[in-house]
Amino acid sequence: MRVAVRETFEPGLPPDDDHPYRSGVWRPQHREYDAWDMDVEGEIPDDLSGVYLRNTENPLFEPARRYHPFDGDGMLHSISFDNGEARYSNRFVRTEGFLAEQEAKQSLWAGITERPSDAVAEYGWGARSMLKDSASTDVIVHRGEALASFYQCGELYRLDPITLETLGQSKWGGHFPAEGVSAHPRIDEHTGELLFFNYHVHAPYMHYGVVSPEGELVTYVDVPLPGPRLPHDMMFTENWTILNDLPLFWDPEALESGYYSNTFRWDMASRFALIPRHGTTADIRWFEADPTFVLHWTNAYEDGDEVVLDGFFQHNPTARGIDRQKLHHKGFETLDMNVLQARAHRWRFNLTTGETSEESMSERCAEFPMVNGRHYGRRHRYSYNARCARGLFAFDGLIKHDLDTGTEELWEAPEGVFVSETPMAPRNGSAAEDDGYLITFASDVINDRSDALIFDAANVGDGPVAKVRLPERISSGTHSTWAPRGDL
Ligand SMILES: [Fe+2]
Repeated sequence: MRVAVRETFEPGLPPDDDHPYRSGVWRPQHREYDAWDMDVEGEIPDDLSGVYLRNTENPLFEPARRYHPFDGDGMLHSISFDNGEARYSNRFVRTEGFLAEQEAKQSLWAGITERPSDAVAEYGWGARSMLKDSASTDVIVHRGEALASFYQCGELYRLDPITLETLGQSKWGGHFPAEGVSAHPRIDEHTGELLFFNYHVHAPYMHYGVVSPEGELVTYVDVPLPGPRLPHDMMFTENWTILNDLPLFWDPEALESGYYSNTFRWDMASRFALIPRHGTTADIRWFEADPTFVLHWTNAYEDGDEVVLDGFFQHNPTARGIDRQKLHHKGFETLDMNVLQARAHRWRFNLTTGETSEESMSERCAEFPMVNGRHYGRRHRYSYNARCARGLFAFDGLIKHDLDTGTEELWEAPEGVFVSETPMAPRNGSAAEDDGYLITFASDVINDRSDALIFDAANVGDGPVAKVRLPERISSGTHSTWAPRGDL
């Protein structure tokens, strides 16, 4: 392997850090590398062309009171493949907050579980404002650029998808919304459009928008809600965009006193807004369903009179019945998807009757679903899901879910190895939905190493067909994407 260290940052964290999300598989990384001619076990397929990108949380400074993993600074990892060869880079996203804290050599913003009054800075980002936009949650590719997003609402930071040089913030012709963009904008590969929403503590509480393939904001409409909400993700079909108003939100009484604590209302329905792709507020059709919280949607598509939506229903979103003394979550039990009981679920919204039907699709705990990128918004048969590890926010296996037959194929990671969200990379010239590869970064805490793993998407249970060694063990993190060479 040929490796060049490009920059090393001095962390202001305890050397013997035992915070559960700054140690073990979440140990942050503070060096930036470029690597080529990497050591490979197996063979990199020569019909795989494009780039796998993943975001991770890498804190550099001690917070005022309490660190939460979503507070960490965004670091992107990129591995590109062409003609059987790989190239790797990792870089911190040079956000405004990152640069200001580098200058100050300390935390300037309060984290999501701290009081806004703990912040040193007098401004900030997020639906609640006063947070640091760390661009550490998702990464997507639009118009050939990687866009890194923040878990609440913030900027979209533009990066070169291969070198990961930060190029600035998305401006959308001067119309980037003042309320920012939520963690999960979505790309329709068929039209080249970027669909997004944002949310805020002020009425109308939500907006929905569309950015054209030319990078112009062409649709931006109010989505009025009964009050402030905490939606995380959205989905779309060929003609409809699906937004949600779920009964998990900031406690209104606490909010009046300036505190942000979550409450879940079992007596309220989950509500779904279906809005035509370029519709208006008046076009929104609302549907109701059983109360839950959903972190991520798998996909959606149209089926006759119905709109079908797949996602991960939390059967225990409030972590009821958990003995907090017994578990080793150290106050982070609501980050354990086994505690929340996230299960694959399907909703059907009937456009003729206005009724919703729903059903559970699996008994397994999984999350961070992916489908073949060409199938977003169109009917899909397969989803590729991360199996949730017990006791912490991490993933210890991959599940290929065949929604037509209801069967699941599992690959279990070896002891001490954790994987990440795993997109599907169609083989060059492929036609079948699962004709291609699954790509993930794995971190092995026993052998202190990380590898990019490549699986045959048609035979996930057989394990990786290639393992590409990275220069250093990388931190666990959140979201990822695959962009084929033609999109770069
Ligand atoms: Fe997410």
